[in-house]
Amino acid sequence: MTTFAEITAVRDLLFERMETPETRSDVLRTPEMKKLFGAIKDQPAEQRAEFGQAVNQLRLEIEAKLSEYENQEETVKPIDVTAPWDVNAKAPSLLNTEQGTQHPLTRELENVINIFTRMGFEAIESRQLDDDFHMFGSLNFPENHPARDGYDTFRTEEGFIPPAHTSTMQNRILKDGIAKLEAGGNIAAISYGRVFRNEDLDATHEHTFYQCEGVFVSSDANLGEMLGTLRSFFESYYGQKLKIKTQPGYFPFVEPGLEFLIERPAALGGKPGEWLEMLGCGMIHPNVLKMAGIDPQKYRGFAWGGGIDRLVMLKYGIEDVRHFESGRLAFLRKFA
Ligand code: DAH
Repeated sequence: MTTFAEITAVRDLLFERMETPETRSDVLRTPEMKKLFGAIKDQPAEQRAEFGQAVNQLRLEIEAKLSEYENQEETVKPIDVTAPWDVNAKAPSLLNTEQGTQHPLTRELENVINIFTRMGFEAIESRQLDDDFHMFGSLNFPENHPARDGYDTFRTEEGFIPPAHTSTMQNRILKDGIAKLEAGGNIAAISYGRVFRNEDLDATHEHTFYQCEGVFVSSDANLGEMLGTLRSFFESYYGQKLKIKTQPGYFPFVEPGLEFLIERPAALGGKPGEWLEMLGCGMIHPNVLKMAGIDPQKYRGFAWGGGIDRLVMLKYGIEDVRHFESGRLAFLRKFA
């Protein structure tokens, strides 16, 4: 039978252990402590309450002592201002790498990139900091034009922009591709990555999300080729035949501008006639080609751009876009 004397003995032992930093943190989880807790129920009925209180008292004393040590440590350790980390911060408890998994958006983005690279598109990561010219000017948005307001753009005081769309890469892609056109080839590239918008957040709006943009230029590019390319992409991504349609849409950088829709397939919870808008697209506006030094009399192009998050939400039936950036393990583990 465990006795009151043993409580005192354990107390002495554990207080001694707490003097050494290495054995300090586990003190409450030691077998001796567990044994005392376990012994409460074996005490004779008339003594059980008193014994339980004594064990609990010991626990409180240990906790108090531990936090005393913790406070001491915090004040004692000097701060090394030249260290690249805070020497006073406790080591973070990292997930074991075997338990870590790719974020679903990263994995799906890789899927998207693979499909397009197999079709012959070069893949370029989109910038996360850009300027007004690439975000707007080069895309045929006139200064002070109301179309700029549709993009809820963040801006630093110096005028830098965390881009609100991956179209911010178009001018660079076009300029870099001129040599290919002159050699008789095409420009075929996608730009993918994070984009940012200052929006009111809800189940379908996040301040940070992912987009993929496509650009194709040749001597005779046309809308038929664009629709074929997009159909192939969506059928490959969802692994089934799809019904598609377009409707007019306005974007200053394309003429004509279109919205591209797919009929939500039954396998993904859709009913016939349920159309989902997946992206914006169109023939690249002659001004956009000119701005990159490409002669619109000689070359034509098409472009498209749309959200990755929404693509993935449809694939897996995810109902709230905010899950992606939430860092919630319960959500992430579903994709492990
Ligand atoms: N950048 C547009 C957006 O974020 C999407 C878009 C529409 C991209 C039409 C395009 C396009 O390349 O042709 O809303």
